[in-house]
Amino acid sequence: MSQRVRTAVFPVAGLGTRFLPATKAMPKEMLTVVDRPLIQYAVDEAREAGVEHFVFVTGRNKSVIEDHFDRQFELETTLESRGKLEALKELQRDLPSAGHTSFTRQQEPLGLGHAVWCARDIVGDKPFALLLPDMLFKGEPGVLKQMIDTYEETGGNVVAVEEVPESEISSYGVIARGGGPDRGFEITGMVEKPKREDAPSNLIISGRYILQPEIFSLLADQPRGAGGEIQLTDAMQTLMTRQRFTGVKYQGQSFDCGSKTGFLTANVVYALDRDDIRPGFLRELRKLDLEDRL
Ligand code: UTP
Repeated sequence: MSQRVRTAVFPVAGLGTRFLPATKAMPKEMLTVVDRPLIQYAVDEAREAGVEHFVFVTGRNKSVIEDHFDRQFELETTLESRGKLEALKELQRDLPSAGHTSFTRQQEPLGLGHAVWCARDIVGDKPFALLLPDMLFKGEPGVLKQMIDTYEETGGNVVAVEEVPESEISSYGVIARGGGPDRGFEITGMVEKPKREDAPSNLIISGRYILQPEIFSLLADQPRGAGGEIQLTDAMQTLMTRQRFTGVKYQGQSFDCGSKTGFLTANVVYALDRDDIRPGFLRELRKLDLEDRL
């Protein structure tokens, strides 16, 4: 039987240059979709999948993330005294239990692979989930839960994938698909940001992983790859020669909230899907002459 995945790593040390100036002093993972920061959606998704220990790899300007996952006694007392008990309950529900969060620093943003490597001592010798919080997924169950369901059958490493148009393929890590169903097929190769003509498929790695701890020793020796960064995809490629990698073409919709258009689209979709927001939001939208603007 595969070892249970109890730990998740959230790399939040990137510079977020695509979202400047918003991300100059604030981490992009604290940008809100409707009323929740991106990092909260990722933590909720991990919790739904059975994760109990949340590891954040932070960088400069990221202490606000630590504060977000801490209690705020002054605020809680005020909410209580004002009778805003529903809001108080929601704040308390969002918090991981005491002692179930860990924070470590990536001192320099040397790439995703390096950020993951920074979590090695906290994760230890166990499989772990990796969630990139700027990728937001709307799925039921959540994407990580879908992956865990597959992992329980296959073990090894599991990667969520999705199709993109060929014109976009050079911006992503791309996989080569082997045999098996959409919910669990063998991955036979992967390459980071290939030229369009070299891409092995139109299936991209989309920000959710279950990895075995052997990835850490590979990352330790990983030379810089595409963009001069230490690339996780390069280390996974080596691990693939020794361990199984399974692809899960997940059910659901993804929003790349590291890009302005993805983020704005997510806000519209999440607002329209919220019973408490939809009526007022539609009323305001109808007041705009959208036809003229579109
Ligand atoms: P991105 O490449 O989307 O993040 O990394 P970025 O570098 O912050 O963004 P841009 O391209 O400059 O706008 C995906 C995830 O990996 C983290 C990011 O914080 C994000 O959650 N990351 C990336 C790190 O933690 N460290 C890094 O060195 C790079």
